Amino acid sequence: MKDKILDALRNVDDPDLHKDIVSLGMVQDLEINNNKVTFSLVLTTPACPMKDMIRNACINAIHHLVNKDLEVDITFGSKVASGQRNREELPGIKNIIAVASGKGGVGKSTVATNLAIALGKSGAKVGILDADIYGPSLPLMMGIRGLRPEVEDKGETVTIFPFDKYGIKAMSIGCLLDENQALLWRGPMISSALKQLLVDVAWGELDYLVVDLPPGTGDIHMTLAQQFPLSGVVMVTTPQQVSLADTKKSIEMFSHKALNIPILGIVENMSYFTPKELPDHKYRIFGEGGGMELSELYNIPLLAQIPIIGTLAADSDLGLPAVLNEDILFSGPFNEMAEKVAQQLAILNSTLV
Ligand SMILES: Nc1ncnc2c1ncn2[C@@H]1O[C@H](COP(=O)(O)OP(=O)(O)OP(=O)(O)O)[C@@H](O)[C@H]1O
Ligand SMILES: [Mg+2]
Repeated sequence: MKDKILDALRNVDDPDLHKDIVSLGMVQDLEINNNKVTFSLVLTTPACPMKDMIRNACINAIHHLVNKDLEVDITFGSKVASGQRNREELPGIKNIIAVASGKGGVGKSTVATNLAIALGKSGAKVGILDADIYGPSLPLMMGIRGLRPEVEDKGETVTIFPFDKYGIKAMSIGCLLDENQALLWRGPMISSALKQLLVDVAWGELDYLVVDLPPGTGDIHMTLAQQFPLSGVVMVTTPQQVSLADTKKSIEMFSHKALNIPILGIVENMSYFTPKELPDHKYRIFGEGGGMELSELYNIPLLAQIPIIGTLAADSDLGLPAVLNEDILFSGPFNEMAEKVAQQLAILNSTLV
C-alpha cells in the first residue's frame, strides 16, 4: 500500500522545481492506518505560496490512482535550502538576501523590513541587517531607536547580540554608533564595519538574513558583494522612468561577471493608490511600467507591485511595519511579495545542488 501511495505521489510535481515531490524527497513519515493516510510534505520554504495547490494535487492523485475512500492528512514542514555560496563564510546563515536600488527614497528599507518580518511570520528563522551606514532607517522602522545592543568583549573576540523584535533578529549600524558618526567614513572603514555587522553579531542559525543597502553602487555594495556570499538581490524601483536609469546601473553592477550575484527579481514600490472607498480602482499616480520594463529588459521576474499606503510613512516612523497591520489591504501586498521572494530563491537554490 505504501508503495502504491508513493507511486501515486510521483505524479505530483513541485510547480517551481518541475520535479516530482517523491524524487525531491519532500514526502516524509508516510503512514497508513486503516483508511487514513498521513504524511508530511517538506517544502523548500515555509513561505511557499503553492501549499494549497500541492495539497490538492496530492489528494487528487491518491484518490484517483489508489482509492477514492482514503482520508488524506498532510502536514507541512519546511527545510530552507542554502545558497551554496554561503557555506564557508557564514555557516549559520543559509541565505543572505540584499535589498538594493539605484535610487534613494524608493522604499528599500520599507521593503527590506516588511520582507524580513513576513518571512519570519511564515515560520522561517530570519534576521535583518541595516547596512545603510550613511542613513540607517532600521532603528526607527523596527522601533529600536536609541537602544544599545548587549556586547560581550573578550579581548580577541567581540560578540554583539542582535535585538529580537517582531519575531526576527535585527541589527543596525545605527544601534552601534551615534547618528552622523559614520558620515565621513571611507572605503576601508566601511568595509570593516560591515564585516563586524555580519561576523561579530551573534545571528545564530538563520534561514534568511535580509540586508538593507543604501542607494547606489558604492563601497558598501562592493564590499558586501565581493566579500560575502550573497544568495541574491531584490531590486526595488518605482514606476517612474527617472528611477530606471539608476536601477539599471545597480542591476548591472550586481550581475557583472566579476560579481555574478543573481537578481531574484524586481519589486515595484508605490505602484498605485487605491482609495478605501473605491477598492476596485488603481490610480497610477507615479506613472506605470517601470518594473515591467526592467523585468523584460533583463529577463528577471517582477515579483510584486506594492501600492502607496497612506499611513505607511507615519506608521513606520512609529516602528509599526505595514506587514503587521491587521488590515489586509496594507499587509497583503507585503506578504505576497515575501512569498514570491522565498519562492524565487528556492528555485535558484535548487539549481545549485
Ligand atoms: N508603499 C509605500 N506607501 C507609502 N509610503 C511609502 C511606501 N514605501 C515607502 N514609503 C515611504 O517613503 C519614504 C522612503 O522609504 P524608504 O525609507 O523605505 O526608502 P529607501 O529607498 O530605503 O530610502 P533611502 O534611499 O533613503 O535609504 C519613507 O517615508 C517611507 O515610509
Ligand atoms: Mg533606506
